[in-house]
Amino acid sequence: MDFSPTPEQRAIQELAREFAEAEIAPQAAQWDRHHTFPVEVVAKLGELGLLGVCVPEELGGAGADFLSYILVLEELSRADAGVGVTVAVHTSAVTLPILAFGTEEQRQRFVPDLASGRVLGAFALTEPGSGSDAGALRTAAVREEDGWRLDGSKQWITNGSHAGTFLVFARTDPATTGTSGVSAFLVDGRDVEVTREEEKLGLNSSSTADIRLDGVLVGEDRLLHEENRGFRVAMVTLDGGRIGIAAQAVGIAQAAYDTARAYALEREQFGTRLADIQAIQFKLADMATEIAAARALTHRAAWLKQNGLPHTVEGAQAKLFASSVARRQTGEAIQVLGGYGYTKEFPVERYYRDAKVTEIYEGTSEIQRLVIARRLLSEQAEPSLASSARSGA
Ligand code: CAA
Repeated sequence: MDFSPTPEQRAIQELAREFAEAEIAPQAAQWDRHHTFPVEVVAKLGELGLLGVCVPEELGGAGADFLSYILVLEELSRADAGVGVTVAVHTSAVTLPILAFGTEEQRQRFVPDLASGRVLGAFALTEPGSGSDAGALRTAAVREEDGWRLDGSKQWITNGSHAGTFLVFARTDPATTGTSGVSAFLVDGRDVEVTREEEKLGLNSSSTADIRLDGVLVGEDRLLHEENRGFRVAMVTLDGGRIGIAAQAVGIAQAAYDTARAYALEREQFGTRLADIQAIQFKLADMATEIAAARALTHRAAWLKQNGLPHTVEGAQAKLFASSVARRQTGEAIQVLGGYGYTKEFPVERYYRDAKVTEIYEGTSEIQRLVIARRLLSEQAEPSLASSARSGA
């Protein structure tokens, strides 16, 4: 077992950290307050290769591995979780499924523009009536002579107002109501109508939009993977995406810890620094320990994915744990700062608002528990789980 990052992983992590500290963190409070989607910064991320970290070089990406991408997401989210989710959805939920399920023609057509950031991606699964129960979606794809006509509405679409490529899930078999009979399509942004930009508790530098597909015609070449096999595309995509959200949660929690630690070393009460008071020391110790555990789970899941090993359960575990750490420990950071923590003079109240959604999107914590429990209790538990059980882990 080797826990140290490779020189390549370290280099890309440092690139992301330096960019995040110089160009993202100083502006994050402003973007949050004014609900600004940072178009120029996203374009710069593309120029730096950070919108295609784990995309092969021949398709315009940086050619690094999945763990490198996870390290980048943590760094970006530490500076601004809104930027973190923009990059996470763009990469994990759009570019990677095209790489995994696309034809060679689809890869060549869509991936270079996404990897370079010339085009932003959005993942359109959720609908007003289908959130956790993703298989209940109603957007219809009706067969036309040489393709399909798409009609329906999608909700809470990250990057919705800025995307040029949407991965849209629609029902191709009207006789079905559940997870079968769903297909995945690649739809151009110009064919999508943005009906509303959502107002949120946090992540105000990211776009979350409702969209409508109104008789959108797509050809055969826009079908991703096989007809009526789209739900599998969604689930495999979310298996990887959840590792990205875990990294985002780790980044937010780390930012909260960094602020709390620095404050505790400065602030004096009762004639001593907060850092000398055991009640505060214990809080910082718990924060650092839980963040380290969340990061380890996240990296384990990322390692499994990049080695082509089963990672459904491990990704769900990483997201479940890291998101609860982020929610809880951003609250503890506010507690360390006391009254200051509750004000906009310090960033911890933003971290607290941003953290909450990591327990909701890409599958709520309850859905992660369901995914984990189903696998644990299935007759053929995955080898990694069986070996964990054997070793008493
Ligand atoms: N990998 C491959 N296939 C999978 C799979 C996986 N991880 N999980 C399920 N499947 C397959 C099953 O094998 C089954 O296939 P067959 O029909 O061929 O047998 C099919 O998918 C249906 O599976 P289930 O019976 O398990 O489906 P279900 O209806 O019981 O529910 C669920 C599954 C896990 C609850 C799923 O609906 C789910 O993940 N819900 C949460 C939705 C979600 O995460 N939404 C996120 C939206 S995107 C987002 O949030 C992005 C953002 O903005 C940040």
